[in-house]
Amino acid sequence: MLEKIIEVSKQAGEIIRGGYRKDFGIEFKTNKSDLVTEIDKRSEKLIMDFIKKEFPTHGILSEESGSFSKDAEYIWVIDPLDGTTNFAHGLPIFSVSIGVVRNGETIAGVVYDVMRDIIYSAEKGSGAFEGENKMHVSSNGDLEQSLLVTGFPYDIKSNPSHVIERFNAFLFEARAVRRLGSAALDFCYVASGIFDGFWEVVLNPWDIAAGKLIVEEAGGKVTNFNGKEIDIFSKQILATNGIVHEKMERILQRFQD
Ligand code: IPD
Ligand code: CA
Ligand code: CA
Repeated sequence: MLEKIIEVSKQAGEIIRGGYRKDFGIEFKTNKSDLVTEIDKRSEKLIMDFIKKEFPTHGILSEESGSFSKDAEYIWVIDPLDGTTNFAHGLPIFSVSIGVVRNGETIAGVVYDVMRDIIYSAEKGSGAFEGENKMHVSSNGDLEQSLLVTGFPYDIKSNPSHVIERFNAFLFEARAVRRLGSAALDFCYVASGIFDGFWEVVLNPWDIAAGKLIVEEAGGKVTNFNGKEIDIFSKQILATNGIVHEKMERILQRFQD
């Protein structure tokens, strides 16, 4: 199945690359910061058509179209374009994220880093890979030497959720903090050892399904801000190399939402 997920992720990536910095329709979702483009929808249609043809009994949960056959044994959880704001403005940081979930757990996950043409992948129990190469999280345990990443929710103006306070706290505790704009890539860059940790206050199942497995299979740890195990429906996410995890938890817990 992993080969099939990789195949369709690359096909979706081709659509996205083809639309990059071209004219495409843009609509607002919940507010003027929350966008969906014609390319998000074309990528999603390609992936959903592929699943219906190749795996007709499987269910789907996809960002722009919702849920189909939700009681199926296998559910494909899809973000057809993660990093839409970057894409819409021509910033080349975005991805396709697909996780296949069985009994609530991701068994295979793929994130396609579209502009770098890199496939990040993992199967439960078989390790995580960047292309053909096995990946491992960083071995750094010193927060002062850590490069961290986070993301901001689209409803931040009405629901600030201590986003700025937490960002501020990590600016003082870590070497540096980044905000890239594609949660799926944030996970993969933790898995490949670029970032030592990633936190975000509100994510969706399609942001988490592939990335969580990829981090765990690369030897990292993924929980909520209290160190509790999570599933793809949890909102809060803390994904790290495992070594800086508790240090990050303590800082995140200074603020109660
Ligand atoms: C968003 C990105 C972003 C994160 C947001 C997500 P989208 O996904 O992953 O990095 O901060 O929370 O909603 O809307 O570009 O698919
Ligand atoms: Ca997303
Ligand atoms: Ca998306």
